Amino acid sequence: MKTITFIGNGNMALSIAKGLKHNYTIEVVGRDMQKLHEFEEKLGIEIRKYLLDGFDVENKSIMLCVKPANVAEVATKLTGKANIIYSVLAGTGIEKIAQHLRTNAVVRAMPNLAASVAKSMTTLTGDAAFKEEALELFSAIGSTRWLGSEKEIDIATALAGSGPAYLALVAEALADGAVKQGLKRDDAMAIMQGLFGGFGELIQHIHPALLKDGVMSPGGTTAAGYAALEDGNVRSACINAVESAYKKAKEL
Ligand SMILES: NC(=O)c1ccc[n+]([C@@H]2O[C@H](COP(=O)([O-])OP(=O)(O)OC[C@H]3O[C@@H](n4cnc5c(N)ncnc54)[C@H](OP(=O)(O)O)[C@@H]3O)[C@@H](O)[C@H]2O)c1
Repeated sequence: MKTITFIGNGNMALSIAKGLKHNYTIEVVGRDMQKLHEFEEKLGIEIRKYLLDGFDVENKSIMLCVKPANVAEVATKLTGKANIIYSVLAGTGIEKIAQHLRTNAVVRAMPNLAASVAKSMTTLTGDAAFKEEALELFSAIGSTRWLGSEKEIDIATALAGSGPAYLALVAEALADGAVKQGLKRDDAMAIMQGLFGGFGELIQHIHPALLKDGVMSPGGTTAAGYAALEDGNVRSACINAVESAYKKAKEL
């Protein structure tokens, strides 16, 4: 079995390791052996555990899962030259990673919050020689899409990375609307959850415009509700949300 070496033992490392544990040998490198034991317990299989200080990455496939601010410090503790570094660090360019860490290649991956339930939408870019391997690795935690540039991954982050927060706002607001009309809060929440579950399946196969047309009958209730959303400029607000998030990513 091929070995993947995680550097960092936090939430994202655990989510990815859960997806990979049956098909790869998992090594985890951290700065606290107690936390590495806890990681192993949560993962539920035996892993190889190493402390960061002096760890040799020579020719290894690395899954870099520390915080962006830790890159320079982590680099001072490692020895050797990696074969490939898969980095999940938000907003951290390939150039910066390659500046600090010695490696033959870098692939940047941007998973989202749903990685914890193996439903991430992960975008990837970087050394094309590792495209197939990267797509296979990250498909273990959900859907994947290879993009042609780092600019595109930053735009995609404004869509899929921040997206759960945008949809959470819509979900909460719709439930609030039902409560305003007199539905009990727990009923409204349960119905909203069912709505999003079903919608998540439908949107995989049906274009959004056709979905909308399918439910909107002439002069009907959905048409009235939909018109209220257009009055509220929801479409324009969504477009502006992605633009603002992308602009912010460029500033960081
Ligand atoms: N969570 C998400 O939904 C998400 C989505 C996309 C991308 N990401 C990216 O994934 C990366 C990890 O996020 P996370 O949610 O897994 O964070 P996390 O749970 O806080 O884990 C961070 C890891 O970094 C280690 N670390 C912190 N400071 C360090 C230092 N100075 N030297 C060495 N190691 C250090 C921590 O070690 P200790 O355990 O010893 O503190 C921990 O293992 C981030 O770069 C983030 O941008 C996360």
